[in-house]
Amino acid sequence: MSSPTSSVIIKGIGSFTPEKILTNDELSKMVDTSDEWITTRTGIKERRIAGKGETAATMGAIASERAIKDAGLEVDDIDLVIVATITPDMPFPSTACLIQTKLGISNAVCFDIEAACSGFLYLLELGTSLLRGGKKYRNALLIGSEKISSILDWEDRTTCVLFGDGAGAAVVSLSESEEGLIDFKLGADGNKSDVLYMPGGGCSLPATLDSIEDGKHFLKMRGREVFKLAVKVMEQSAVEILEQNDLSPDQIQCVIPHQANLRIIESISSRLRIPMERFFLNLEKYGNTSAASIPIALDEAYQSGRLKRGDLILMVAFGAGLTWGATLLKWTK
Ligand code: ACO
Repeated sequence: MSSPTSSVIIKGIGSFTPEKILTNDELSKMVDTSDEWITTRTGIKERRIAGKGETAATMGAIASERAIKDAGLEVDDIDLVIVATITPDMPFPSTACLIQTKLGISNAVCFDIEAACSGFLYLLELGTSLLRGGKKYRNALLIGSEKISSILDWEDRTTCVLFGDGAGAAVVSLSESEEGLIDFKLGADGNKSDVLYMPGGGCSLPATLDSIEDGKHFLKMRGREVFKLAVKVMEQSAVEILEQNDLSPDQIQCVIPHQANLRIIESISSRLRIPMERFFLNLEKYGNTSAASIPIALDEAYQSGRLKRGDLILMVAFGAGLTWGATLLKWTK
């Protein structure tokens, strides 16, 4: 645990989801699926789909404005902007630089990271370390923003029913009096990179007529394997972070899990012996929004009055890579 002078808190939180709703019934007219199949296998009822002109940068910018306002800060108070995304507006420049320009942040270090659905938990440790480290930065804007609809094969029923678009952002700041972000337990295993990936578009397979024809620019997933690995790594990282901090599961007031699949979350709940009532869920409305999933859920939990000052919150995620992580947070707002 950190000393008070090097403590970092979540000072502001905000999110944005596109207006357009795509329901399970509408999807079942596009591919061979049904509301019944999607609901029983995943818990998802609908998802948001970005409209023309909506991108990771535009959605991330709106979520960021809301987070900065919630923090009671001005754009010029932000000196670090980091975005987690697997759907950047373009390979370069970074989505963080695009958001910087949209918001008019004049003096900040800006870059992107990529840890798929674990991206926001990676950001929280990275942002906290940079704030604590050199005393160069005071307020970091951490953004998870995804337009997953742009990399889905809308003819593949095994993937297109699972995902949605959206953005969430947090302003994290140094605090002399309170400790908010308590501990982090991140992990990765590149040996499992082939269970969830997008083969095309990088330097190993740049876009060609053939690569497009072969569907190489779509997300590929071996769902069952991802399911089993997700349950294992999320349980492991959650147990480790609780043990490291001498906490028992009943001391956690709220769990914010990555919103991928209700059955995965139910499995984690029973393995951790934390009842489902203490898990915050919104996947029925948004599906899996990858790096945006946890910050959107954290914002909605806060806005709905679910989080009380002093509550201990456990956030837990997994994603392509494989990557995973657990984060312990004391709510200070
Ligand atoms: N509608 C109807 N039937 C379907 C659909 C669909 N949308 N998708 C698959 N099926 C069929 C399959 O073809 C299969 O049919 P068959 O038995 O005739 O071959 C049957 O349903 C069962 O398929 P499974 O894949 O075995 O179904 P499962 O119960 O494993 O559920 C699911 C699939 C929902 C994808 C599940 O495995 C899962 O949630 N896995 C985790 C996925 C996940 O969380 N991914 C996100 C990772 S995070 C990131 O970094 C992006």
